[in-house]
Amino acid sequence: MTVVGIVPAGGSGERLGADRPKAFVVCAGRPLVEWSVDALSAVCSRVIVAAPPSFPLPGSVEGGATRSASVRNALDAAPEATVVVIHDAARPLVTSGLARECLDALEGVQGVIAATPVSDTIHRIRSGDLIRDTPDRAALWAAQTPQVFNADALRQALQAGSTATDEAALVVAAGGRVRVIEGPSDNIKVTTPTDLRLAEALLRDRC
Ligand code: CTP
Ligand code: MG
Repeated sequence: MTVVGIVPAGGSGERLGADRPKAFVVCAGRPLVEWSVDALSAVCSRVIVAAPPSFPLPGSVEGGATRSASVRNALDAAPEATVVVIHDAARPLVTSGLARECLDALEGVQGVIAATPVSDTIHRIRSGDLIRDTPDRAALWAAQTPQVFNADALRQALQAGSTATDEAALVVAAGGRVRVIEGPSDNIKVTTPTDLRLAEALLRDRC
């Protein structure tokens, strides 16, 4: 089994509104992307970052216009991979233990992702601001990363050229079976300035 890590870091971080792409914003003393690369390096033979064209890193590939395109570019650079661990640059609280847990659960399915049961009530909206309906919360899980896949299943799912906000959605759409395991609530995604402050505090607590 050859496990390759992929860190999508090619986004601009529009909602964070920093002076540089989000993955390169400093959090608890290091650029966000470094926390994720370090955690994945412990369980992968190598880690490929999909970086913005203006912020290349050693061994990185260029990110694409969408997250799915960024992952596709990184996967194309890893023909040796039999298993892939994808983890967002935007989730610096990941641990190598969580990535290992996902890898250990890959038996018998094409993918495993960390996720958390949703605690808010989620409404679907129509016409801009009117509630259409309310899916049963018991069946809703919020996706995190790491997301671990059989590499051929992921290649096939990405081949169609479709895009989604995570790879689990693409693999399931292509007919794959993807399992969820409960990720820790502190494995947050840095999206807004408030998230960045929270991630900084959580990382400093850990040290
Ligand atoms: N990502 C990527 N390539 C893109 C878009 C996103 O590799 N074209 C990556 C981001 O760098 C991030 C992860 O996917 O690590 C999750 O995306 P998100 O949190 O939406 O980050 P951004 O797209 O950078 O942020 P925003 O949507 O606010 O612009
Ligand atoms: Mg985005």
